[in-house]
Amino acid sequence: MTQAKILVARAVFPEVIASLQAHFEVTSNQDDVVWTKAQLIEQLQGKDGALTTGSERIDADVLAACPQLKIAANMAVGYNNFDLVAMSHHGVQGTNTPDVLTDTTADFGFALMMATARRMTESEHFLRRGEWTKWRYDMFMGSDIHGATLGILGMGRIGQGIAQRGAHGFGMKVIYHNRSRLDPAAEARCQATYVSKEDLLKRADHLVLVLPYSAESHHSIGAAELAQMKPTATLVNIARGGIVDDAALAAALKARTIAAAGLDVFEGEPQVHPDLLTLPNVVLTPHIASASGPTRLAMAKLAADNLVAFFKQNAVLTPVNSVVSAIK
Ligand code: GLV
Repeated sequence: MTQAKILVARAVFPEVIASLQAHFEVTSNQDDVVWTKAQLIEQLQGKDGALTTGSERIDADVLAACPQLKIAANMAVGYNNFDLVAMSHHGVQGTNTPDVLTDTTADFGFALMMATARRMTESEHFLRRGEWTKWRYDMFMGSDIHGATLGILGMGRIGQGIAQRGAHGFGMKVIYHNRSRLDPAAEARCQATYVSKEDLLKRADHLVLVLPYSAESHHSIGAAELAQMKPTATLVNIARGGIVDDAALAAALKARTIAAAGLDVFEGEPQVHPDLLTLPNVVLTPHIASASGPTRLAMAKLAADNLVAFFKQNAVLTPVNSVVSAIK
């Protein structure tokens, strides 16, 4: 039987490429060029499978132009770059990388919340500018984490990881809102109380967003929601750009209707709303919440394992859609 042809759409660990080469004919983009849609379509010609990242959109145009494609294995837990309806329609399997990144991403969400509340980057920039000439009692006063109310919007695996860190490590009171309420055992594990979205916005001292992006969650936090938050509150987004209306957030941060924000994801990233770049009360990181060495390697390996399982066992480990007849 001829080997399946695989496209690795972005640079990835050389050992993962080598493991794929043991099974497949592999074309890889180790130069890490970010392709246009037309270039992606061209690269996918004749390919049976692809290892993708959140930057490659697998939509109806791509699927129609690449009829040989059978699977796209995303190296990310989020898969809003996949048009799942179109993929299922074209019989294309999608997979993601859940679980392996939960703790690393929860650690980062917590760190970003702490950096935001305690004004770490703002004060570091002050120091680096050479402006630190004396100690002062009210210099860079922030807000406390311990004992504060932690609000979580989106209570999946990562949300629950953040809740547990807050409740057990820092004595925080945890409230959450989610499409569906957790079962009592999970609520007890997280020491978390289910509240309405309105209550969440009003009561949280630190609000962390961990919900998937979709048409329904687009601009879940906009001007109206920001207006309901405490003026002392912080907002952290480690979920996806587009969940927050970044222009409205910049306006709220400027007017100090909330105290500060920590953002790892942005609308239209890697572009960042220019107003956010000028504001002192926002901590900005370039979509790195899952970026510890072991976790990024585990993500790449899981994406590769999905490709191997698909072509060798006609099954995948972590599907995100159901496909009637995956092997075309
Ligand atoms: C990163 O954003 C992911 O979805 O894994």
